Amino acid sequence: MEQQAKTRISRVQLCEEIKPGPSSIIIFGASGDLTFRKLIPSIFTLFKKNLLPQEFYLLGVARTQYTDEEYRLEIKNKLSEEKEDLYLISKFIEKIFFISGNYNDDSLYSYLKNRLRYLDEIFKTQQNHLFYLATPPNIYLEIIRKLSNFELIKEKNNSYSRIIIEKPFGRDLKSSNELDEELHKSLKESQIYRIDHYLGKETVQNIMMLRFANIVFEPIWNYKYIDNVQITVAETLGVEHRAGYFEQAGLLRDMFQNHMLQLLTLVAMEPPASLEDSSVRDEKTKLLKTIRPFEKDYIDEFFIRAQYKKGKINGFNVPDYRQEPNVNPNSNVETYVAAKFLLDSWRWSGVPFYLRSGKRLKRKISEIAIIFKEVPHSIFAKNNIYLEQNVLILNIQPDEGFSLKIQAKQPGSKLCLNTLSMDFNYNEFFKFKGPDAYERLLLDAMVGDQTLFVRSDAMELSWKLLTPILEKWEEDQDKNLLFYEAGTWGPKEANELLLKDNREWRNLDVEGEFVNVF
Ligand code: BG6
Repeated sequence: MEQQAKTRISRVQLCEEIKPGPSSIIIFGASGDLTFRKLIPSIFTLFKKNLLPQEFYLLGVARTQYTDEEYRLEIKNKLSEEKEDLYLISKFIEKIFFISGNYNDDSLYSYLKNRLRYLDEIFKTQQNHLFYLATPPNIYLEIIRKLSNFELIKEKNNSYSRIIIEKPFGRDLKSSNELDEELHKSLKESQIYRIDHYLGKETVQNIMMLRFANIVFEPIWNYKYIDNVQITVAETLGVEHRAGYFEQAGLLRDMFQNHMLQLLTLVAMEPPASLEDSSVRDEKTKLLKTIRPFEKDYIDEFFIRAQYKKGKINGFNVPDYRQEPNVNPNSNVETYVAAKFLLDSWRWSGVPFYLRSGKRLKRKISEIAIIFKEVPHSIFAKNNIYLEQNVLILNIQPDEGFSLKIQAKQPGSKLCLNTLSMDFNYNEFFKFKGPDAYERLLLDAMVGDQTLFVRSDAMELSWKLLTPILEKWEEDQDKNLLFYEAGTWGPKEANELLLKDNREWRNLDVEGEFVNVF
């Protein structure tokens, strides 16, 4: 009983959820994988949680031919796993409509215009339109130009018109800038929502809460107390059915330019003046400016790239990357990157940020490890006791939470220290699974909150930083491409990246063990 009472008191009281006003969502690429796997389930969950406005409809646009009824049936079948939701699903799909056509065809847009006018009238959505571009990126500009020509993205008096753009946003600095310039010909920055789904993850949002809603971390969140920071985003999956895209992208574009840099930014940025989207995004931009640029001649000292060879994951044999379906048998595309970033600022002077991400690694885990310095003087040194450094781990997924590794006396002998782990696990504590990242992001876009979306200047800075590496790798082709066995933690050279600084990657195999030294 007492335990329960304590838990209740310690729960955060400050909860806020904003329900959007009248809105519509128009998805381009409505018959694609992202729509069926992520967008529709997230929108349905919002509907189930009563977070969608009463005045709402969803209009799918794609080349695939469906009638409204056929599209609804497709959605119903995809959502029907949860039997108890059948009634809600039937209510939800009443709000769904579909039109098909070619994205470069004017007639699609005049039909779209009529359909929007009609649906706005029926659902009383006040001409508020959230367009979601879930198509292949090479059609983004075509769609925007047509929407603009047909005056579909011009904001009128009290209505909004916003566009969510999926990654990849360009493939290097030049193409990203070109895309941005084109967008700004017909849209204001306040209408553009560049999505990075990592920012919608509960644990990623929690980085700001943890840092700025507690006083205990800020005084030690700097070069005086932190030795290094390690960010790992490891996946066991390979390229799956996405070889067409991944062969053009590679891991640096796929994970570093967006998710990895966003994580780094959130861990390292200065406290924003407020939670206003402009304040948060200003700080993120400032932080990106402090990252020391990578000079072409020294890139190999800071970046390791590798590709997986066959191996075993969870007991199953998996093939070489080059033997995956639709992958060029001579492909030089990297499926793993490890890197060292340095930040030129007072806070982070001399603190390396080591980042690694890869496909077909030993297990799926995303975490940020803040590794603190050793104690300045150990009174235990004379007993030959090695004191491990304190580590704060922010577990992004799959065991969402955080842990603090500290030294404490192990009961028994007079002097015996061991590393303890103080763990907080979201699912255990809150007893429910947090929302999917897309739920948060779609809701925020409908209410017009851009905090969790990437601003134009941050996008430019991230490409500016990584484009020299992409160019160097392009020039070198297969030179310096390393290989690693699937089911491992990557190539051994990634260890050397840290060893030469006298450091090691955090061992992700021996999680939470209390090792008895006797
Ligand atoms: C996507 C990448 O942005 O993120 C994928 O394109 C990657 O290659 C995915 O697998 C990882 O996302 P999550 O949420 O599963 O960590």
